[in-house]
Amino acid sequence: TKKDFFRVVEVGARDGLQAEKNFVATDIKVELINRLSKCGFKAVEVTSFVSPKWVPQMADHNEVVRQIERHDGVNYPVLVPNLPGLKNALATGVIDEIAVFGAASDAFSKKNVNATVDESLKKLLDVTSLALENNIKVRGYVSCVVGCPYEGATKPEVVAKVAEKLLEAGCYEVSLGDTIGVGTVNSVSRMLNTVLKSVPADKLAVHFHDTYGQALANVLVSVEKGIRAADSSLSGLGGCPYAKGATGNLATEDLLYFLEGYGFNTGINLDNVISTALWFNEATGRTKMSRVGAAISAK
Ligand code: HMG
Ligand code: MG
Repeated sequence: TKKDFFRVVEVGARDGLQAEKNFVATDIKVELINRLSKCGFKAVEVTSFVSPKWVPQMADHNEVVRQIERHDGVNYPVLVPNLPGLKNALATGVIDEIAVFGAASDAFSKKNVNATVDESLKKLLDVTSLALENNIKVRGYVSCVVGCPYEGATKPEVVAKVAEKLLEAGCYEVSLGDTIGVGTVNSVSRMLNTVLKSVPADKLAVHFHDTYGQALANVLVSVEKGIRAADSSLSGLGGCPYAKGATGNLATEDLLYFLEGYGFNTGINLDNVISTALWFNEATGRTKMSRVGAAISAK
């Protein structure tokens, strides 16, 4: 019997690096993306066209998108917060996909993009329509889908509303972000039940930060509700500089091991991902590894 396909979006070069204080050299970012490109991902998120004053680590976005190798069958989304960001991205002439990002909490939205949820959704409408006119795919993110570092628990109805708006705007998919990783099987389940009333599972992805070690459990809940796409980052790097207390994303290696064990086909070579993690640590003097990467590379 043919295995079901599950799509993993690698966000290590963007979410993984954006909160890193020490600047990672552009040539290392480019090689990281090039190596990830050969692992079998269908999408490797590469950088953000945000303000370099807000996120200095992403200031080399022009160089990164111009220097990476592009493989057939792989998309290279970049985050875009506003029209100036989209215009900069379009000027490079190489962008195939963007990601716009909204939130389900006003307090977080203000800290992250200096606008309320409604104000930012309005801006995202313009960004999305101009991108679509230029034949660029648009993915949407919703942050703080379970909890907000400033407002506490999030109402599932708000998440559903923001997700619907992003899809109406023309996003092909909405990725639901537990930005600070507070979700549990119960709170994630409640949130998904509400969102799935108005958004079909094949339009959703999940994006769990692993702050409390609940990310894989929450992926299992999502899988059992029919979701077949998730974001993760190499070695579990990551965090949002404007979400107090947020730590890394779910590690790609741990997600792949889980998905394989569940019986999915991802098309991704786990050994190549682990080699990439070891190379990245060597190149940058880091030691952080995923659980699965540490176990397999110690054999
Ligand atoms: P603002 O200060 O309100 O913007 O920031 P502004 O329009 O007033 O402009 C201020 C200055 O920034 C001006 O320059 C603009 O030209 C410049 P100045 O006149 O001072 O020299 N500027 C830009 N420069 C480059 N690219 C741009 C751009 N826009 C304005 N696109 C803004 C508003 C949205 C720009 C800012 O708040 C920002 O960049 N925020 C991004 C924060 C961010 O990247 N957060 C992390 C990504 S989201 C995330 O991680 C969550 C996710 O992983 C899912 C999850 O986990 O939940 C996706
Ligand atoms: Mg994130």
